[in-house]
Amino acid sequence: LGLSIYDNGYLNTAVCRSSISYIDGDKGILRYRGYEIEDLAKHSSFLEVSYLLIFGDLPTREQLQVWETRVMRHTFIHENLVEYLKSFRYDAHPMGMVTSALSAMSTFHPEANTALQGEHIYEDETMVNKQIFRCLGKVPTLAACAYRHRIGRPYNTPSNELGYTENFLYMLDRLSENNYLPNAKLARALDVIFILHADHELNCSTAAMRQMTSTGVDPFICLSGAAAALYGPSHGGANEAALKMLEEIGSVENIPSFIEDVKAKKRRLMGFGHRVYKSYDPRAKILKNISEEVFAIMGRNNLIDIAVELERIALSDEYFIKRNLYPNVDFYSGIIYKAMGFPVCLDAKKPFPGFPTPFPTDFFPVLFCIARTSGWLAHWHEQLQNPIPIFRPKQAYEGPEPRKYVDISQRT
Ligand code: CMC
Repeated sequence: LGLSIYDNGYLNTAVCRSSISYIDGDKGILRYRGYEIEDLAKHSSFLEVSYLLIFGDLPTREQLQVWETRVMRHTFIHENLVEYLKSFRYDAHPMGMVTSALSAMSTFHPEANTALQGEHIYEDETMVNKQIFRCLGKVPTLAACAYRHRIGRPYNTPSNELGYTENFLYMLDRLSENNYLPNAKLARALDVIFILHADHELNCSTAAMRQMTSTGVDPFICLSGAAAALYGPSHGGANEAALKMLEEIGSVENIPSFIEDVKAKKRRLMGFGHRVYKSYDPRAKILKNISEEVFAIMGRNNLIDIAVELERIALSDEYFIKRNLYPNVDFYSGIIYKAMGFPVCLDAKKPFPGFPTPFPTDFFPVLFCIARTSGWLAHWHEQLQNPIPIFRPKQAYEGPEPRKYVDISQRT
């Protein structure tokens, strides 16, 4: 084939050097810029973690204050972008709306377009930072507009006195306590979930972000491409599959027969197993604890009991032990999102409460997209500093040998 290595799907090829996140799959370790994910989840905030991911170090108090103010100042979106979002069909999938709006942002900010302005624009740090503020600030607003669109309610403008995640919940008008202010404990829980999803080295969408960055296209288009990759059910949709599985199991008594089906390879245990983690995914442990905090406020549902028992049985079963199958991040996140009332399509025939008609309602990947935007931007920023030649992987050609064109009248 004239190729030195055939690596189907880049499973074994390092395509960049990075200092952003580190995973030890055997030991179940995830670090952002050297900090343990457990410490960040306990002590930090999503915006502080975003700063860390993008700029490499934790901010000082002053740096954090400036950073938060700048990001929150960029939460508003252009009125014409609002009109664009309004033009989507009433039942448009929110991920389709967010992905499209991200690429539309490119046309609203032509000064960030290297094709128009020249590649040198990103030698200017102010210019780079401006795009980072814009992207991080506006993604939750786009997501909230997509949500409000689905429920047929007017879009809410951001409230910049609130924190990043609080403001997002405020724009959704969800989980409010009084005066439309979100419940502080639930906002903190979601903020921690955003921290856990912020980066995960070179996953499919981040690889897409880097691939597009290598062409020199602006960051809005890159983010749109990364979000499009995330939309795929094998990437951003696994938590929904895990939730559906728990719903289907229905009660703790049905777990043993379900496990037998899994062992007979009739089913997969969704939310279990990972390409990189061959021990407990550290994010899953944190999420398990968060679920209890959320249930204390929103009420417990039986899915968590099924999940905990399923985990207990699986982790003591030879089949799972031998194959190093442990819960991954998606095992508990779907249960938490459902408890918080985020829409998910478990049965396309039944409308989600509060939704007018029975169409698929799935907001989970949008939440993932908000969080992962910080990781995508960190990789964009790193790649601007350490440019990679335009991505051009090789293929192994397996098509026909050269042949002559046949006129349509002669074809059989
Ligand atoms: N349930 C039952 N058996 C499994 C599972 C599972 N979830 N995952 C792997 N196995 C078995 C598989 O059948 C195989 O058995 P055998 O050796 O007898 O053929 C063995 O374990 C190795 O499987 P594999 O497919 O080679 O493992 P992989 O590392 O390529 O797959 C995975 C990783 C995530 C695709 C897989 O574990 C899976 O399909 N899990 C369920 C879906 C899921 O939860 N996806 C979310 C992943 S986390 C996302 C993120 O980090 O962003």
